[in-house]
Amino acid sequence: MAGEQVDGTRPDAVTAEELAAAGLLLEIDGAVATIALNRPERRNAMTFATWRALAKIGRSLPAEVRVVVLRGEGKLFSAGIDLSMFSGGGEGFSDGADRAATDAFIAELQQGYTWLRDPRYVTIAQVHGHAIGGGFQLALACDIRVIADDARFCMKEPALGLVPDLTGTKPLVEIVGLNRALELCLTARTVEAAEAHRLGLAETVVPAAELDAAVADLTASLLAVNAGAAVATKRLLQEAPENTLEEQCAAERREQIGRLREMFGGAGKN
Ligand code: ACO
Repeated sequence: MAGEQVDGTRPDAVTAEELAAAGLLLEIDGAVATIALNRPERRNAMTFATWRALAKIGRSLPAEVRVVVLRGEGKLFSAGIDLSMFSGGGEGFSDGADRAATDAFIAELQQGYTWLRDPRYVTIAQVHGHAIGGGFQLALACDIRVIADDARFCMKEPALGLVPDLTGTKPLVEIVGLNRALELCLTARTVEAAEAHRLGLAETVVPAAELDAAVADLTASLLAVNAGAAVATKRLLQEAPENTLEEQCAAERREQIGRLREMFGGAGKN
């Protein structure tokens, strides 16, 4: 995989230097962007630079990208936050004394995850081996998780005295429910692939040797669907949990009118 920004024409595009410093690879092939966590010797541990670069990728992907795949190089998806940062390696942590500054700092890092919900893209976490802490939350930020039968998830933060703060608590509760989410977080236990599938934490489990092919097949199926309908449908589905039935019916009508106007030339009328 090339470690270079393909769309070098955009002034806001992430640079090859930023990708290297962040431990990321980015490959853009038409409608598909593949982001690989690329510090296998550190088990794809992530730093603040990783999350800032992910946010920048999210802000600067070419308009034609429709599917984003996140994966890990080497033997596992990600060991989560780079623990050397706890012991003063690199930029170091805020002590929280300045509440407003710390809030802004964490919000900036969360942007590395939030863009994966953007209706412009369908995002796929391709998980093999461990996905721990911030790595688990990265998988949770994606729309679909396709995992190998050796995948293992662990929300480690509470065991380290922290809370999961990289956008993972909302999807975790939505997927497994409050009680199971609490049990998983407060025991920090490891969930293996079969249980992850049963809990809904993975849409698909395949033998490790078939993981690349499974993601390629899924990507092809997603790209076979009308692009505008895909964006509108993701937007609609995202609204559903918060809406009343009446609100959701109205949202369906709104999106369908948009589709009809685009397909049958009604745009430009009232
Ligand atoms: N941060 C920094 N370095 C790491 C991390 C990490 N999160 N995880 C692994 N490494 C390093 C190890 O220190 C080791 O370095 P060394 O070769 O210099 O000794 C190297 O990566 C290989 O690690 P091993 O433990 O030997 O790899 P193994 O494949 O046996 O185990 C595993 C992988 C299970 C991921 C293990 O490394 C592990 O438990 N890591 C810590 C996970 C963790 O607690 N993450 C924080 C979660 S909380 C959060 O993300 C906010």
